[in-house]
Formats: sequence, structure tokens, C-alpha cells
Amino acid sequence: MSLKDKKVLVGLTGGIACYKIPYLIRMLRKNGAEVRVVMTEGATKFITPLTLETVSDNPVAVEMFPEAKYIATRHIDWAQWPDLVFIAPATANFLGKVASGVSDDLLTTIICATPRPVMIAPAMNPQMWSNKITQRNYTTLKKLGYVFIEPDKGEMACEDYGVGRMVEPQQLFEKIKVFFQRNSKKKVLKGKKVLITAGPTREIIDPVRYISNFSSGKMGYALAEAALRLGAETTLISGPSDLIPPYGVKFEKVTSTEDLYKAVKKEFSKTDCLIMAAAPVDYTPVRKVNQKIKKTEKTMQLSLKPTVDILKRISRYKKENQIIVGFALETQNGLSNARRKLKDKHLNMIVLNQPSAETGFESDTNKVTIITSQQKKISLPLMSKEDISYRLLDHISRML
Ligand SMILES: Cc1cc2nc3c(=O)[nH]c(=O)nc-3n(C[C@H](O)[C@H](O)[C@H](O)COP(=O)(O)O)c2cc1C
Repeated sequence: MSLKDKKVLVGLTGGIACYKIPYLIRMLRKNGAEVRVVMTEGATKFITPLTLETVSDNPVAVEMFPEAKYIATRHIDWAQWPDLVFIAPATANFLGKVASGVSDDLLTTIICATPRPVMIAPAMNPQMWSNKITQRNYTTLKKLGYVFIEPDKGEMACEDYGVGRMVEPQQLFEKIKVFFQRNSKKKVLKGKKVLITAGPTREIIDPVRYISNFSSGKMGYALAEAALRLGAETTLISGPSDLIPPYGVKFEKVTSTEDLYKAVKKEFSKTDCLIMAAAPVDYTPVRKVNQKIKKTEKTMQLSLKPTVDILKRISRYKKENQIIVGFALETQNGLSNARRKLKDKHLNMIVLNQPSAETGFESDTNKVTIITSQQKKISLPLMSKEDISYRLLDHISRML
């Protein structure tokens, strides 16, 4: 994808990774983007404005109150100019200031004033990144809709090892390209209501123990993000997960399979499409115990009964114009089991995945086969869960 006519405002803050940014700017410009640069005072200690002026072919702005005339409201003009504000590297200090609403220099004032999307690539020492305050600020900003390029694990300039390194310029560039590709997608789900479930459920055994599975919620959260971007009014119901719900989604958190069923049932009649990406636990203890079960030397037996079959129950209420998509995770006889589930539960589509190191629960990638109620079979190669989400929603939008 060419970036012709795209305007990117690149903001640099005071971290050693500033040295990577001229490479990024050159890539952006080679692909047709126009680039303007804003630096904090801190950033100018690591790389000169002259270097960035030269590679961006535009004046670089640093000062909030410059001597020159006729640029009095530059913080507003520059905030409105770009299609994307891209901050890299972002210091812990910068995250803290933006998360607290502080605008005490040109860059943070532009962030406050911009109506445009903001992407942030933090870079710092692992201790600084894992610091609870930094993590709180990162979470706050993510929940508010700032898009993050999470730091990598690796060796740092200070010779520490851990998570905190900014990803390489080529990867930053790819993220920017993907961002523009996704933003230019047609809003094919505009006016549609999509209900997505994600994550595992938990069945309580006693006050300190539960039955669950390895589901991380990544597939469902990626689907919710993609559905939002394609214009759908999106509801995400999630079992326990550490993931941050995408900004703009209607979000509900549940614990047990029964809770999940009740939450889905409440929303289903208002929904055009239900995607059950959650992995509800299939069995629950017959007897719930109020006190912790004491450890003994004897063998212990736990009696379990099936939990509610959400898809089967919900499909009873399905109207002609509603679509239900199920997921099947199978370790053997995948295709035949998925086909049976599709038929038994009256689904319009089923997505089969088989767990491996690169696919299934906790990974960022997956390899799925989509089977429709007309028995059409589409096998996708190994892809990111984000890319799979767009492919799936593309099929769903055509069905809707
Ligand atoms: C050599 C050196 C390297 C630094 N690298 C980083 C870094 O990678 N990440 C970070 O958050 N802070 C780093 N700092 C600290 C910031 O420069 C400092 O917090 C500064 O106040 C940030 O200001 P700014 O956010 O306005 O640019 C570094 C400081 C020095 C002296």
C-alpha cells in the first residue's frame, strides 16, 4: 500500500531509541507520506533537529513559545494537520504526562489538542516499563483508545535485558502501513450490531479453587476490535482475561458459563450477528462448597455435571435474519466434529482451530478453517488473530 497523500506527525521524546527514527522517517517518505516532526527538549539531547529536518524535509518544532511570529497557534494547527500522530520513542515521563492530562510542552499540548488517532511506541529500561505507575499509565491510555506498539524483549542500551526495547524501524513502519490499510477499509458493518464472546469461564469448586481452561481471550478481543473498525456497534462479553477491551466497545465481564449464557441471552435479540469465540467450561461441580476443601492423604472424587450448552440454547431464539458463528477447538477428527457442531447447533458458520504452539489459545497467531452452513470450506494459512478477524468479518458482512 502506498502512503501517498498520508500525513504523519512524528513525535520524539527523550530516549536513546531516538536514533532509530530517521530510518523510519525515510521509509515513510519513500512510500509517499508527508512527515512533520515534533520533539521534546529531552529528545533534542539524543538526536538533533537538523537531522530530522533533513530526513523529513520539513521544519522541526520543539518550543511551545518560540520567538518567531505567525505561528502562535501552532499546537492547534499541527494537531489538526496529520492523518496520524505517531510517538516514538515514548518515554515513561511522556506516558505519565499524557495519562494525567498534562500539556506542558509542544508535544503533549498537540496530543491534548489533536482529533486524530495517536499511536505510541514506548521505549525504556525494563524496570521503568514494568514499574506499576508506568503500567497504570499505559493501561489508562489504552483504555482511552490510544493505539500502542508494545515494546519488545531484548538487550537494552543500558545492557539490562528484558521488555522495554522499542521495535525496529521496519516494524514501526509496517504497523503504520497496517493502520492506514485498516482505516481505509469500507465500513461494511455500519448499522449492524455484533455480539462477541471471549475468554474462558470459571466454575467454582470451593472459595479458593476453580475449573477453567487456557483460553486467553485474544481471538475474541481481536474480533471485537476489527468489528468496531468495520463500523459495527459491538458488544464484547468476556470471561476472566487480562486483556484490555478495545475502546468504543460495550463491555461486560462474566465468570461462569451460566453467567455467560445469561449475558448473551440478554443481548441476543438486539443482535444481527453473534460470534461465540469464548471457551466456556463444559462441566461444573455438582456441589459447591462454602469452605476450602481440606487436603487429605485420600483420593478425592469431584462429581461434575454439564454446564449449559450456550450455542444450542441460544439458537432456539434465532430469527431468520440473525447469524450465529461458533468456534470449534478440536484435537482430533476436527472437520467431522466441526461439521456436526455446525448442524446440531443450527449455526451459520463454524471456525475450526486445532491447538499447537503457533495456534489456539494463548498465541497471537492461528490457523483456522471456516465452514459455512452451505458446506463451503475455506482453509486459511497461519495468520495473526487480527488478520483472521478481518477475513471472518468480511464473510459475515456478505452474509448479513
Ligand atoms: C542516556 C539517557 C537515556 C534515557 N533513555 C530513556 C528511555 O529510553 N526511556 C525513558 O522513558 N526515559 C529515558 N531517559 C530519561 C528521560 O530522558 C527523562 O525522563 C526525560 O525527563 C524525558 O523527557 P521527555 O519525556 O519530555 O522527553 C533517559 C535518560 C538518559 C540520560
